[in-house]
Amino acid sequence: MQTGTGPQIQSRPTLPSFDSKIIMAKESGSPTVPIEEPPKSWAVAIAETLRVLYENLALLLTGYQHQFNPPPPTFSEEHVGTLTGKVFVVTGGSSGIGKELASALYSLGGKVYVLARNQEKTEGVFGEIRSAHPTPQAGAELKFVAIELSDLRSVRAAADAFTAAEQRLDVLFLNAGVAHHAGQTRTAQGLEWHVGVNTVAAFALQEALEPVLARTAAAAKAAGAVRVVWAASVLVDWFAPVNGVRLDMLARPERYPKVATNYALSKTANWFLAAASARRRGGRNGVVYVAGNPGSYRTDVWRSAPGYVKDTFWWLLREQQRSHVTYLWMGFSDEVTMQDAVAGRYAICDGRWHPNPRPSVVQGMKPVEEGGTGYADVFYDQCVGAVKEHVRISPLREKTETLRGLRQRKQAEQAACD
Ligand SMILES: NC(=O)c1ccc[n+]([C@@H]2O[C@H](COP(=O)([O-])OP(=O)(O)OC[C@H]3O[C@@H](n4cnc5c(N)ncnc54)[C@H](OP(=O)(O)O)[C@@H]3O)[C@@H](O)[C@H]2O)c1
Repeated sequence: MQTGTGPQIQSRPTLPSFDSKIIMAKESGSPTVPIEEPPKSWAVAIAETLRVLYENLALLLTGYQHQFNPPPPTFSEEHVGTLTGKVFVVTGGSSGIGKELASALYSLGGKVYVLARNQEKTEGVFGEIRSAHPTPQAGAELKFVAIELSDLRSVRAAADAFTAAEQRLDVLFLNAGVAHHAGQTRTAQGLEWHVGVNTVAAFALQEALEPVLARTAAAAKAAGAVRVVWAASVLVDWFAPVNGVRLDMLARPERYPKVATNYALSKTANWFLAAASARRRGGRNGVVYVAGNPGSYRTDVWRSAPGYVKDTFWWLLREQQRSHVTYLWMGFSDEVTMQDAVAGRYAICDGRWHPNPRPSVVQGMKPVEEGGTGYADVFYDQCVGAVKEHVRISPLREKTETLRGLRQRKQAEQAACD
């Protein structure tokens, strides 16, 4: 635990300059969590926009190859092997990439819980999967559990239904997501829809299932076999702001009316939550948390996107049949280790590490102690605050102690100046 005593204070790196300007307004869990973006002058705002453009130009040179036309996958079903006796959760397995993943896990003998909102549609998908794999490996099962991700009460109920039925969970695939959502703009808890559904609800589910994940990891023969896989997007590269997320996007949804921006923010937030979860817990509970872009495919995720968006990008997208291979790599490959997760590495299609994530986003992902700006850690604590009424947060709080240490250090520095 970091206590912020005298000698340690002097040996610590100086906090980034914005830090002192963050408005520490709300207690959420143990740490004080900023709910406002630090105020910015016009000059800083313009400099940040130019930086995003510059970083995107650099990415353009490699981005198409990396994220739309990747080399053939080196990891697929035959590398996973049999999944008999293992249990999986796939959110959003009623459609698109989640459906392909559920099908692959089932064919290999996995017991697959699909958490989805439409039972009739999901049962129809189960029928298709069973027809496609009439003789799956032993133990294969498909189970439906209802979940409505726009309401954290439903997330709690789904987690309870799962844990009442199962003693183990090998990989939690947090796949469900929505883009360009049209209609209702706020979730039941008043969050912006994309961030609420794609990010905060997924985090709530992860936290509710943490005890069963940790138990499975403790009993597992192989280290790093129990994982949580988070869905991000190529738009993390394109649209994320400097530092990746906005610190007021949970508390001030009215400031975020643009659905395309919100989708990108939610997906970057997913990466940040995976990285922060790994850092805070990884070494202790044995669960590997990893995020990445599964690749870009012609699925229903674009159902509400305006025509001009679809017309512009449709030719870049691939058919969905093999869309699950990145998830297979993230969920099962030995190339994904606890060290990678704790370092916050980011996966891309079709099963590789991102060779050049945007530096200003990586900076937001990294904690202050490692030279980053600590946005991921602050956002993590905000999410704890957002979900704690609905799910119990596991008591591993090493990072919280560090944040408290930072605050104490700042107070000590201030006292020294006075
Ligand atoms: N397709 C791409 O090009 C692409 C690229 C990068 C990342 N991704 C990510 O990959 C993941 C899967 O997307 P996809 O392309 O397979 O899209 P999809 O076919 O639309 O599947 C999305 C799944 O999420 C579920 N879902 C959406 N809102 C929900 C809610 N409020 N409550 C419960 N479930 C909800 C959907 O349920 P219903 O079936 O009931 O609608 C569906 O099962 C998403 O996280 C997406 O952001 C996709």
